[in-house]
Amino acid sequence: MTTTTTETATGTVTAAPVLEASGVTMRFGGLTAVRGVDLTVREGEIVGLIGPNGAGKTTFFNCLTGLYVPTEGQVSYKGTVLPPKPHLVTQAGIARTFQNIRLFSNMTVLENVLVGRHTRTKEGLWSALLRGPGFKKAEAASHARAMELLEFVGLANKASHLARNLPYGEQRKLEIARALASDPGLLLLDEPTAGMNQSETRTTEELVFAIRDLGIAVLVIEHDMKFIFKLCDRVAVLVQGEKLVEGTAEVVQGDERVVAAYLGTPYEDAPGAEEAAEVEAAEQVAEEAAEQAAGAEASEEAAETAEEPADEAPEAETADAAEEPAAADEAPEAEAGGAPSADTPADAAPSADADSTTEGDSK
Ligand SMILES: Nc1ncnc2c1ncn2[C@@H]1O[C@H](COP(=O)(O)OP(=O)(O)O)[C@@H](O)[C@H]1O
Ligand SMILES: [Mg+2]
Repeated sequence: MTTTTTETATGTVTAAPVLEASGVTMRFGGLTAVRGVDLTVREGEIVGLIGPNGAGKTTFFNCLTGLYVPTEGQVSYKGTVLPPKPHLVTQAGIARTFQNIRLFSNMTVLENVLVGRHTRTKEGLWSALLRGPGFKKAEAASHARAMELLEFVGLANKASHLARNLPYGEQRKLEIARALASDPGLLLLDEPTAGMNQSETRTTEELVFAIRDLGIAVLVIEHDMKFIFKLCDRVAVLVQGEKLVEGTAEVVQGDERVVAAYLGTPYEDAPGAEEAAEVEAAEQVAEEAAEQAAGAEASEEAAETAEEPADEAPEAETADAAEEPAAADEAPEAEAGGAPSADTPADAAPSADADSTTEGDSK
């Protein structure tokens, strides 16, 4: 494990970069989920990645770990450009957990950690699962290491339980233990406290600090701001695929654009602000038109008696203005955070690689 005597971003000494993502862009058909994102994580750091739902955080993680091949940009780990292949990324030293827990649900807690270890044992996954002759020798060492990790995350007493019988919070911890089993230099956590109660969240905070203290850099996505601002040396904010702000907790918390991004209030030059302004303008025109139409109707009735022609109908203008946002070439899905658009592959999702063997219900 790397021991870092260097200081974090707040210090004067700049630690060596562990992760360097530059210009990472990921497009799905017409939708740009991640746009030109640069991000560096240095030794000894805990870096946060926040942003509204659908901002592209998980997609960015998928680009870092080789599940997606970025449309543009590159990712380096400790100075070496990573090939976009999950098992090679894991081998290089990046481990992750998933937003949607992925465990071998019918395997024991201990076995799940052993599986996470296969990238670091000569024997490999199949030997481990089939208990081949080569495996026997390495078994004792792997077993001891796995138990150590379970101890570390607080699950040693559940080693023989089936993963699926663990409460949700403990499944998340098991995922962390399994990720650590590959001896990473960088750990990516995608919403590690989702679904946790306050005390579980607190334990997870301590766990992340403990991981950092082992010399493992951490990049964490989380919606819990208290958690993020307490843990992170630096926080990057992603909005509609673009990095909006990056800085210390104070800088990010004090940035009005970040507040706006979360509250949905548009601000000048926000990504998508143009479209939002157009929609707003169109809505206003439509509203006014409706009012005028109502007014016109009323005055028409009046006109019938007063023999005055009603004022010109506002329809034409309304239709024009309302059409514009729909014609904007940026797909509106970008901010919906929901289903991919119909013309993109519905599921370019992780598959057919080492990591997907950990899919919870793949058994
Ligand atoms: N495999 C995919 N195919 C098409 N669109 C996708 C795919 N994965 C994610 N997206 C889209 O990319 C955008 C960002 O999603 P995601 O990265 O999951 O956001 P976040 O993790 O910040 O909530 C969303 O609009 C989502 O629908
Ligand atoms: Mg996500």
